[in-house]
Amino acid sequence: MIVLSIETSCDDTAISIIKAKNSKKLDYANFEVLSNLTASQIEAHKPYGGVFPAVAKREHQSALVPLLIRALKKAGLLKESKTVDNKKILKIKKSLEKNEELFLQLKEFLTKYQLRDINKTAVTIGPGLEPCLYTGINLAKSLSYYYNIPAVGINHLEGHILSSFLSPNEKLELPAIALIVSGGNTQLIYFEKIGKYKIIGETRDDAAGECFDKTARILGLDYPGGPEISKKAKDCKTNKHNITLPRPMINDKNYDFSFSGLKTAVLYHSKKNRITDDYVKEMSFEIESSIVDVLISKTLRAVDEYKVKSLLLGGGVTANQKLIKEFKKRAKVKLFIPHKKHTGDNALMIGLVSIYSPNVKKIIKPISNLKIND
Ligand code: KG4
Repeated sequence: MIVLSIETSCDDTAISIIKAKNSKKLDYANFEVLSNLTASQIEAHKPYGGVFPAVAKREHQSALVPLLIRALKKAGLLKESKTVDNKKILKIKKSLEKNEELFLQLKEFLTKYQLRDINKTAVTIGPGLEPCLYTGINLAKSLSYYYNIPAVGINHLEGHILSSFLSPNEKLELPAIALIVSGGNTQLIYFEKIGKYKIIGETRDDAAGECFDKTARILGLDYPGGPEISKKAKDCKTNKHNITLPRPMINDKNYDFSFSGLKTAVLYHSKKNRITDDYVKEMSFEIESSIVDVLISKTLRAVDEYKVKSLLLGGGVTANQKLIKEFKKRAKVKLFIPHKKHTGDNALMIGLVSIYSPNVKKIIKPISNLKIND
């Protein structure tokens, strides 16, 4: 079984090709990654200080087909075709009226190459930004229609959860608690077995990554804000401003989060102060500490209360070294942290879900607020 997977839920265009040697049990030894490529849009979104959906859609449109060609080449599966089905191409043209750039590149691909080695395409259907999801879905559906390959829809969050199986040395023991923190999501999930999940808490407003990005912008730092804040926090040597930010909902009995108040607190504080380099470093230190404190406290409480055997982390924010260090120090269960290249959005995780989870969807349409247990 060879799966071509596509991920375009936010600001990363990603394509992966996996070969499953055994499709019954998800284990590192049972699959082979033939290619796993990501085209980042960070530069395009920098001027906006966050992901701008119309720009993201445009970037996905222009990146997808070249990435597909590179992924097939890397996997040794880029093979020329001798036949062209113009009727099918005409139908695809109609369905891609709003994705003209994608269609033009795709048309060239369809007339030049075949996809005989691919058994299935898998594409993220949510959660994510609708115009972005549409672009990946349109590619998957067009390839599926033209080459007669089944296409399935995948939940992005389940992808992040299964990313923990991408480390060769450790074996995940279930049940587990999964903390998924990214630019769009902050959720605590009870992970009973593959395909069975329950959200036990989530953010009521901004995601933790979004809070990093927005507060970075207030401080005049680049996008994405997480790594920038982290860098400044690391360099912080002073405490001239004695900044104390709230730890939102840290003592609430539920597992929900709220980060928009933190952003407002940073905004008001910064308006009353001169933004010097020391100020930015001190504020960054406090922002990072506040977010990390809340994430750690709620997650470890869930681990205790649900009596799980493992804790796994997923999403871009789990690249944060302070967060990882604290979890390593304080977690009393097996801790799974995906490799840095798998913490952010990637298509490999989407392919894994399509092979090993019972949750694949046959109806492929974008669902921007798709929940893990939908
Ligand atoms: O999962 P991801 O790549 O996709 C989106 O949801 O967009 O996560 C991106 C988020 C951004 O908000 C970024 O600021 C945050 O992850 N991030 C970090 C770090 N690296 C990326 N946040 C804190 N510390 C980091 N080192």
